[in-house]
Amino acid sequence: MKPKLLLTRMIPDAAIVKLEEYFDVSVNPHDRAMTDAEICAQIAGAEALVCLLTDSIDKKVIDAAPKLKVISAYAVGFNNIDVEYATYKGIAVCNTAGVLTESTADLTWALIMATCRRVTESEAFLREGKFKAWEPMLMLGQDVFGKTLGILGMGRIGQAVAKRALGFDMKIIYHSTTPQTLSFPAQQVDLDTLLQEADILSLHAPLTPKTMHLIGKAEIEKLKPTAVLINTARGAIVDEEALISALSEKRIFAAGFDVYEHEPSIPGALLALKNVVLLPHIGSGSIATRTNMGIMAAENAIAVLEGKSPLSQVNKLN
Ligand code: DGY
Repeated sequence: MKPKLLLTRMIPDAAIVKLEEYFDVSVNPHDRAMTDAEICAQIAGAEALVCLLTDSIDKKVIDAAPKLKVISAYAVGFNNIDVEYATYKGIAVCNTAGVLTESTADLTWALIMATCRRVTESEAFLREGKFKAWEPMLMLGQDVFGKTLGILGMGRIGQAVAKRALGFDMKIIYHSTTPQTLSFPAQQVDLDTLLQEADILSLHAPLTPKTMHLIGKAEIEKLKPTAVLINTARGAIVDEEALISALSEKRIFAAGFDVYEHEPSIPGALLALKNVVLLPHIGSGSIATRTNMGIMAAENAIAVLEGKSPLSQVNKLN
């Protein structure tokens, strides 16, 4: 008999095929996220769970799954999982680190270009029939080439974003709590220097108790008035209210966001601003990458059940 696996949302077919070769898969039948109660009810006999970043895998869920051996996140971020409790229960927690790096870096650059050159605002202007003639002062933005790119969190995605900046002749500065050996020129600086010197500040740190609201009122005040803030990591790294005030008062030039503090809820005040570009958390959203994430999540789950090392495990079990 195959071990049971709960998959909390339909993911690309190639991953389902892989999962079904090894598991008796039970998939969320709805075109929406499962509720906590539905997950708890479905997970009882499961030895493996493939979950989304929107599922809260807390003590209650873990306790509802006495046979669980692996929680395989269909994501690189795992702030939605109680890793400490899973570890205590002897459950491996895996993620899809690596496969989504380049797609997320591409999308980060889409936001950098769109915010600096006011792309979405300009397009809306044209669609509203307001483009009457070429004008010297129309939709002037910030240059990107030759500027200073500040990276907060120089892990895989931070590095991929920074590498792309070399083609724009940018100076790269970064702040990271983990030491990094980099294959390109970049200057490590303290947080204050990063905030004060970056023309574009791009966030790539994981969400932890230490990074929660790391970019708050005091930090935003240190940014240049021409600065652009980009977040494709996790929304709660930024104090959204403080950011909205800064953008409304034009204390920074613009912001580009793919993630939100209380996702998917987005404050009306943020939606009303013109100097922001807002995307619906699509950083890893290319067809190939979402498929590769599914295959990796499946391979991680299978490896744990086979007693092998998964491709990416975030906790250590005794
Ligand atoms: C992740 O994987 O954590 C991203 O936010 C979505 O792919």
